[in-house]
Amino acid sequence: MALYGENNPSLLPLTILDLQAMKQEGEKIACLTAYDASFSQLIDQAGIDIILVGDSLGMVVQGNQTTVPVTVDDMVYHTQCVVSARQRAFVIADLPFLSYASSQQAMHNAGRLMQQGGTQMVKLEGAHIDVIESLVKFGVPVCAHLGLLPQSINQMGTYKVQGKSSQDADKICEQALKVEQAGAGLLILECVPAALAAKITDSLTIPVVGIGAGVECDGQVLVLYDMLGISPGKRPRFSQNFLQTAKDIPEAIQQFRQAVKQQQFPKPEQSYK
Ligand code: KIV
Repeated sequence: MALYGENNPSLLPLTILDLQAMKQEGEKIACLTAYDASFSQLIDQAGIDIILVGDSLGMVVQGNQTTVPVTVDDMVYHTQCVVSARQRAFVIADLPFLSYASSQQAMHNAGRLMQQGGTQMVKLEGAHIDVIESLVKFGVPVCAHLGLLPQSINQMGTYKVQGKSSQDADKICEQALKVEQAGAGLLILECVPAALAAKITDSLTIPVVGIGAGVECDGQVLVLYDMLGISPGKRPRFSQNFLQTAKDIPEAIQQFRQAVKQQQFPKPEQSYK
């Protein structure tokens, strides 16, 4: 399958407009996390559309139990590493735990991720409408993250599927509409029933990228180390070790891309009811 944007002679990275066009044209968006230049280059060359510099680096790179200890300095450093090596992929970087507790703090830290890190968009967990509106008002593209919010692990106690009761499902739907209205340009939905994710994807105009959210989302994201089978601990049910069926890492990344584009990933058994 041809790469979206490959006829663009400018050699500039994809933009939010390209991602919106992919949603409108029904082309699925493939996204992987990366934290360093080597993987960034491999992922970029494989035609993955979005690289997420996720605060999951706190677990898979730094060896922490949760994403909570990750700092803005960590995120700036890893975002610089990723941005330095990519040509085509759109880059999103996470605002880490408590770095967006007020609009002012969010603007300061998003400014660092964009100006020092070079990210094209920042991601934050939860429906923080005032913060999203402030960032957008000052030209910061925002990716909202709803469903399972890993930064809230100490409140939740465990990582579990969200939106299973009709009340919780309605709340997530409402939050999704509100973050879109507040100006978010993209939504990541984590660990929600596939039918709920499909309903949200259908009702929003912005692209919805899922992780553990079924095949009907506009795209899929996985933590790179999970899809290469090298994460510490148990691989989540919604992930897949693509290295098991590939001869090397570039081929595993290609297989992930193809499986997303052809809607062969995630399978029903990798999704939630
Ligand atoms: O930090 C991360 O890698 C993420 C993904 C799980 C979506 O937020």
